[in-house]
Amino acid sequence: MTATPESLFPRLNVRRYREIDSTNTEGKRLVKLGTQLPMLLTADHQTAGRGRLGRSFYSPMDTGLYFTLVFRPESGFSDAVSLTQAAAVSLLRAVKKLTGAEVSLKWVNDLYLGPKKIAGILTEAVTGVSGRPEAVLIGIGVNLSTADFPEEIAGVAGSLGSGVNKEELLKEILLELIPFTENPADRSWLGDYRKYSNVVGKPVSVIKNGVSRPAEALAILDDGALLVRFGDGTEEALFTGEISIRFR
Ligand code: BTN
Repeated sequence: MTATPESLFPRLNVRRYREIDSTNTEGKRLVKLGTQLPMLLTADHQTAGRGRLGRSFYSPMDTGLYFTLVFRPESGFSDAVSLTQAAAVSLLRAVKKLTGAEVSLKWVNDLYLGPKKIAGILTEAVTGVSGRPEAVLIGIGVNLSTADFPEEIAGVAGSLGSGVNKEELLKEILLELIPFTENPADRSWLGDYRKYSNVVGKPVSVIKNGVSRPAEALAILDDGALLVRFGDGTEEALFTGEISIRFR
């Protein structure tokens, strides 16, 4: 019998939804109600799936893996960006293990198959009265067999499409990811994060406040920042934000 998240992680409070607005939004509601953590929320369909930078995440019924892991940050938790990068590597390793697909990572946290984005990650926090994060939510969406994307993303979005078993993929991601959430000092994801980057050495556009500037992506630094050099020779380490890249 295949191991399930419930059997592998007995402490995990697992809630499965046929349909929900967004597993991240539901996770936040449940944290505020004092629900037991750590918690895993999965959905077969999201009616208001959310992406980074206020975007939506298209999540039609039964064509993707949509889930959120919610946990109390360990002491030593420093930044959500590193956790998101650890999650991106967890996702990449799980997909490679199950399918052998040649997937890559677009900084900060998008998973690509060739020129198409097939998965994204939205990390959020619920802040307590102390101003410190009381819970962290890592939401992951993987397009498995989604075929018809809305027009605005049809050119960039794709699906893994290899008949991968959704439950197996969830299990493999959790096996990689949960140890990182329990030990924020573990930065062993950095090697694969660099190895599978699809932006280093490429011309990119850095988008800030709606303004796009051409640059070259030089390296991923030890702290996970992306070092870029602009046309005028100035260099900048980007910690968050957005870049675009044209895949040929
Ligand atoms: C992005 O590509 O910008 C991030 C997408 C994150 C999507 C996942 S699907 C499960 C979880 N619930 C959401 O509403 N968003 C995340």
